[in-house]
Amino acid sequence: MTKLLEPLRHPGFIDLRNRTVMSAMSRSSADENHCPTDAMLAYYARRAQGGAGLILTEGTLIDKSGDGWNNAPYIATEAHAKAWRPVVDAVHQAGGAIAWELWHMGRISHSDYTGNAPVSSTNVAAAGVNRQNNKDYGTPRALAADELPQVTGLFVDAAKRALDAGFDAVELHAGHGYLIDQFLDAKVNDRTDAYGGSVENRCRFLLELVETLTKAVPGSHVIALISHSRAMGGIYEWDELDAMIAYLVPALQQLGMGALDVSCANSNYFETSGRMVRKIRPHWSGVIMAGASLTPEEAESELDSGMIDLVTWGRAFIANPDLAEKLRDGTPLAAFEEAMRGTLV
Ligand SMILES: Cc1cc2nc3c(=O)[nH]c(=O)nc-3n(C[C@H](O)[C@H](O)[C@H](O)COP(=O)(O)O)c2cc1C
Repeated sequence: MTKLLEPLRHPGFIDLRNRTVMSAMSRSSADENHCPTDAMLAYYARRAQGGAGLILTEGTLIDKSGDGWNNAPYIATEAHAKAWRPVVDAVHQAGGAIAWELWHMGRISHSDYTGNAPVSSTNVAAAGVNRQNNKDYGTPRALAADELPQVTGLFVDAAKRALDAGFDAVELHAGHGYLIDQFLDAKVNDRTDAYGGSVENRCRFLLELVETLTKAVPGSHVIALISHSRAMGGIYEWDELDAMIAYLVPALQQLGMGALDVSCANSNYFETSGRMVRKIRPHWSGVIMAGASLTPEEAESELDSGMIDLVTWGRAFIANPDLAEKLRDGTPLAAFEEAMRGTLV
């Protein structure tokens, strides 16, 4: 493994000791105040001690209004941010970097957690059941255009808190069908105002958010996760995919953002993200991170192709806290097993 273990020095993004990234993974382990526990501290520290280049935290809710997940951590107050300081310090002491994933679930949240109807781009409920409480997704309330700056403010305040707490970067969760994606995705966004309809209108919320965010914090410390292709009972893709990429990606670049995380959630990389990074690369000279259960050889080959700069692994990092060290030594990776979801090791 050569490239995977090379440091990343890319103008406009944070320096990293190697190209391995632990994907954001919700572990439902925060305490009753939505703060990290000692077990979470040990879990993240162990991945940094095992050589991870960058750790993306589990999805962390910017506000109660975005919650639909059991024991998810929050970054809604200074107290939440302060509670993460030992985690940040432990990761830094081990030579790693850590970015906070900022999350608002939109219509995928639930009134059991929010206390109110979920908010979204639309008034139409998501199909299916929230597997956290086994209840139907509730009918959301479409945010009015003049409420959007307030939501943007929640993201910006959370990002400022994260960087003040010592995090190296923040990752805006703009994928996987959550709030920001509910604006980007034409299959969900049924608005008739300036935030729905055309490609430009559907991208407007994210672009305005990033514009405000990059005035408040350096763009070199901002990552956006997008997931325009993923498996959901077959391959699920944004409508007008190429036009969306051709408009959104250069616009994000123009705003000085540091990195894109091209995520496919739990899908086959080569059927989803692997195809998408090839569409994105011509429009984007910043850092691209992507992956999903790649073998070390596949990861190396994707880096060599120049399509991506960093490789993300999720479940392999649960099964191998020392993933980067194993790559260095050529030790085979342990396989992920479903039972591992239940404990923080
Ligand atoms: C237990 C678990 C929790 C996850 N939680 C999140 C999350 O909070 N935020 C997110 O962006 N993706 C989340 N994901 C998706 C992962 O970040 C990653 O995209 C996915 O696991 C595919 O990578 P892998 O095949 O290497 O595991 C989660 C995945 C798993 C397995």
